[in-house]
Amino acid sequence: MVYLMCKKLSICMIGFGNAGRAFCKMLLGQQAKIKNAYDYEVIVNTISTRSKGTLYDPEGVDIGRALREIEDFGRFSEDNPQLIQISSQEAIKNSKAQVLIELSTLSIKDGQPAISHIEAAIENAMHVITANKGPIAWDYKRLKGLADEKGLSLLYETVVLDGAPVFNMVRDNLPGCEVLAFKGIVNSTTNFIMEEMESGSDFDTALKEAQIRGFAESDPSLDIDGWDAVGKTAALINVIMDGSVTPMDIERTGISHITAQDLKDAKAKGGKIKLLCEGYREGNSIKGKVYPGFVSNNDIFSNVDSTTSMLSITTDLMGEICIVERNPEIEQTAYGVFSDMLTLVKRLVKNK
Ligand SMILES: NC(=O)c1ccc[n+]([C@@H]2O[C@H](COP(=O)([O-])OP(=O)(O)OC[C@H]3O[C@@H](n4cnc5c(N)ncnc54)[C@H](OP(=O)(O)O)[C@@H]3O)[C@@H](O)[C@H]2O)c1
Repeated sequence: MVYLMCKKLSICMIGFGNAGRAFCKMLLGQQAKIKNAYDYEVIVNTISTRSKGTLYDPEGVDIGRALREIEDFGRFSEDNPQLIQISSQEAIKNSKAQVLIELSTLSIKDGQPAISHIEAAIENAMHVITANKGPIAWDYKRLKGLADEKGLSLLYETVVLDGAPVFNMVRDNLPGCEVLAFKGIVNSTTNFIMEEMESGSDFDTALKEAQIRGFAESDPSLDIDGWDAVGKTAALINVIMDGSVTPMDIERTGISHITAQDLKDAKAKGGKIKLLCEGYREGNSIKGKVYPGFVSNNDIFSNVDSTTSMLSITTDLMGEICIVERNPEIEQTAYGVFSDMLTLVKRLVKNK
């Protein structure tokens, strides 16, 4: 008798917060479909966290149980047989997985420890998917070089506009185009807060709502002071404009000084205030800035409300293209990671 065995794709996840759990839920619902379409069984063999320990099983962590334990107790249960206590670095090495999915907390000041997680993964011949923008904003070129040297993929679609295809579109669907500039509203939290304030809500209530819905960064100053948008701007410059910047090179003004009166004044002048980001060429250098700017009601950006994000990309051959991600929830973040995982599966199928 001949047994046909499908291939296994094993994943080591660092981080099991809002994004990690949403990705796992999506994976659970799609595992059978992936198996049918690509003949790959995708398993998560490691889930590593900062304070809740690490789940490890070479045959696959029980994701359903892990999700239930976090939902019920806010931590992994002591009697979970897959629970071990090792550091995130050890977890990567120990996993012997084929893919690292980096979903740890953003550190905008240096991109760590996510950068060292990615280095460890590449050293251990693992492909990398990251939704954490730190490594792409701080160290994209070097990390891509390390991955390329070993014939490994480094994918990061979720870093800007969650699962909406920004990087994929520029890489795969605009052949021959050079990106000259971009402009966007890329931070849901600040857009949401300013819109809620326009409708009479106060700053703190609006921020709390953004945190409950899971799209605010765990440290709210990352959103409010423009750091999240700065990280995305740096990542976009590094990848789609072939620049070499870090978040510290991006000019930054946040929204903490914006008052309800400022928003009323903007309305009276026929517009709104939005936190905008831009990347542009100036002579031989590429620059970026993040700032709250007046957007007239005639401008396409004025329709980008609530948690919606939009990025306008100006190219030499295809002119200006706008991508809108309408009212995303955490599932759209999960889809960004999931779509990278499928990109990887397709590459593996093609190269087999
Ligand atoms: N949420 C979104 O909508 C969204 C969208 C795009 C990109 N992202 C990015 O995706 C990443 C995850 O976001 P999130 O919303 O899921 O964050 P989160 O809810 O705060 O979860 C972060 C997770 O990372 C773990 N962690 C932090 N430092 C770690 C370390 N050194 N080693 C191992 N695990 C560590 C935390 O462990 P504990 O559970 O023990 O605290 C937690 O499980 C962030 O970089 C974020 O910027 C998020």
